[in-house]
Amino acid sequence: MRKPIIAGNWKMNKVIPEAIELVNGFKRALADISEVDIVICPTYMALSEIGDMLTESNIALGAQNIFWEPKGAYTGEISADMLKDAGCEYVIIGHSERRAYFGETNETVNKRLKCALAAGLTPIVCVGERLDEREAEKTFDVVGDHVTNGLAGLSNDEAKKTIIAYEPVWAIGTGRTATPQQAEEVHKFIREELAKIFGKDTADLMRIQYGGSVKPDNIKELISEPDIDGALVGGASLKVDSFSEIVKISAQCSAKQ
Ligand code: 13P
Repeated sequence: MRKPIIAGNWKMNKVIPEAIELVNGFKRALADISEVDIVICPTYMALSEIGDMLTESNIALGAQNIFWEPKGAYTGEISADMLKDAGCEYVIIGHSERRAYFGETNETVNKRLKCALAAGLTPIVCVGERLDEREAEKTFDVVGDHVTNGLAGLSNDEAKKTIIAYEPVWAIGTGRTATPQQAEEVHKFIREELAKIFGKDTADLMRIQYGGSVKPDNIKELISEPDIDGALVGGASLKVDSFSEIVKISAQCSAKQ
């Protein structure tokens, strides 16, 4: 059985004192949860401080990006060693905002992914179609391309350690969530694509999160779908109540299975 994973992507939000307050709230609210993996991904600025706060807790730390070179003249970039030094175990790769605003491509996603895996970080690779692509009925082409090219060249063992986040771009920050059926249709497709590349046994072990306007009032339906193994949460991860509620509902759903 796949253990659900709920991750909060804070994007470019929260200065350090605000981050500390939020994490103190999560630690209080979520101390008893063991049925789901919990990850929070603050900005680079807060990683080290939050990393210290999360030692020996049931909440893991993740970063929002990684650069593939180990060190050197790469102004503004952050290496795998730096992330690990700050306490990171996870890293988000290829978020649609990075693809849209910072020129991220399947090739750069693939380089970041291989670097993260080599460093022992757990990658969360984001895939998903834009609204115009969905309307042009290209969803499966686009998502298939993100999966096959983004994950190109991975061994089965590396694939097993990789998490995919299906985030339809039209559902991010818009309040317009994919219906559970729409999401499941794509998650199932992703798993089939993964099975073609890595074999069914590996694909069945891989976790696929849904992301895009996930809230306490839609998580239950989403996570009850057979191929939805958790959520990558943006806006609702910036408040103690909403993120904790999402984690707790997921834990209850998982305990019932
Ligand atoms: P929202 O939950 O704010 O729609 O953001 C989703 C997302 O992009 C998470 O990575």
